[in-house]
Amino acid sequence: MKLLCKQGALTKQQVDAWIYGVYEGAVPKASDCPIDTALHRVMELGDFTGKLYETKLFYPQNAAAKKLIVVGMGKPKEIDMEKIRGIAGSAVKVALQNNVVTAAMMLFGEDEICPKKAAQALAEGVILTAYSYNGFKTKKTEMKLNEVLVITNAENAARVEIGLTKGTAMAAGTNLARALTAAPANYMTPTNMSERATKVAAKNGLGISILDKDHMQDLGMGCLLGVAQGSAEPPMMIVLKYEGNPGGDILALVGKGITFDSGGISLKPGAGMEAMKGDMAGAAAVLGAMEIIGKLKPKANIIGVIAATENMPDGMAQKPSDVVHSMMGKTIEIISTDAEGRLVLADAVAYAETLGAKKIVDVATLTGACARAFGGVYAGYIATSDNLSDELQKAAAISGERYWRMPIHEDYAAMYKSEVADLKNSGGAGGGMQTGGMIIAEFIKKAAFVHLDIAGTSGIQADKPYMSKGFTGMATRTLAELALAQAK
Ligand code: BES
Ligand code: MN
Ligand code: ZN
Repeated sequence: MKLLCKQGALTKQQVDAWIYGVYEGAVPKASDCPIDTALHRVMELGDFTGKLYETKLFYPQNAAAKKLIVVGMGKPKEIDMEKIRGIAGSAVKVALQNNVVTAAMMLFGEDEICPKKAAQALAEGVILTAYSYNGFKTKKTEMKLNEVLVITNAENAARVEIGLTKGTAMAAGTNLARALTAAPANYMTPTNMSERATKVAAKNGLGISILDKDHMQDLGMGCLLGVAQGSAEPPMMIVLKYEGNPGGDILALVGKGITFDSGGISLKPGAGMEAMKGDMAGAAAVLGAMEIIGKLKPKANIIGVIAATENMPDGMAQKPSDVVHSMMGKTIEIISTDAEGRLVLADAVAYAETLGAKKIVDVATLTGACARAFGGVYAGYIATSDNLSDELQKAAAISGERYWRMPIHEDYAAMYKSEVADLKNSGGAGGGMQTGGMIIAEFIKKAAFVHLDIAGTSGIQADKPYMSKGFTGMATRTLAELALAQAK
């Protein structure tokens, strides 16, 4: 998919379809409708009102385009980046359903918000909507739409170019994360994830190192190795490095990469277990974000750390009551082998800190408690630093993703105290989101820390204006925005 900035009139473009936005109730005068006078009639009749995300397809006669897609933009005062994504997405869906290969699109919201931001959001909306996962179908459905001209004026063109470049990178990284997450667990193994990460690093100028099991043993990563020991697939700790500000502080993005979570000996129920191929969505978001960072090259230092392993039950598997030794030193009593995410992350965040990270953000499909509490509408998070929490919220305000901070309190810590080790890996059902995050925080000595729980938001069950049902690449764009903001 190519997005090109173009100056001139929408209706001069020789393309399959023009895409035109109309604000709610703003019936264009017939004379103001060079595009198609039918639009004026249709709006007067009330068959199209310009309500947000409403669409209508027209077939103009004797025009440079055979199709005209009109999309509702809602109220001008309410337009923002998230609405622009949805407006672009709603129109692109109509284009995809109607054999449109090339389109020219008005830059929605150009007069209301900064054209750079409008262009970024438009690019994200278009490319995220055009994503589809064909996976292993022998008959692939091909995506026809392959070129979108974004129409602007001479004054805004330079800013629009910058916005399109940024939005294109953001969306491509997110789509990478979606595809990685959707891949079946027999293909998306820790080894495969390492190969994919190696490709991303090579293509985008990132450093990469991959720790194998022996190396992890040398470093004393008993928590990660404990989870991995029931699986025939070797675990991998993948480290991606981007250095754009030599000598400056380092931000670490740490991803939970459980390529399949059976629960281990604390086996999950069979029904719906296939969804646990997506238990590496956090790792996918980190890899997607690192790709974006490599492309956009901020003056900042970012490392991506991915703890990749399966969680499987076999004769070698760890058992409830086992005690494992973390790299950082603390010991953990295993209560549930299904609380494996915090175990692999305990070693991953500790490792990130030894690499010099001053700020650490982990992202994980960590708890059913989060999915239930927010019903997929928000991701939950905890933070040990108000500053880093604010930075996260600023990044999320741009990306449009929603994060809700959960409290931390020493009374939660009491829930995971162990009789035999420094802590237990589960604090029980109550406050599961908080205790899960706080257990990970136990393995960080000094760095500022935010833990994002994307269980419930890493996948959606119904289509949204710019996101089809399935895996969402949740957190990819927010992590990338957070990384870019480190340069300021
Ligand atoms: N990967 C799961 C969490 C999850 C559940 C993600 C549903 C997406 C949808 C995680 O490893 C897990 O099993 N968590 C347990 C923790 C408990 C045993 C303390 C949970 O939430 O039940
Ligand atoms: Mn689990
Ligand atoms: Zn899990």
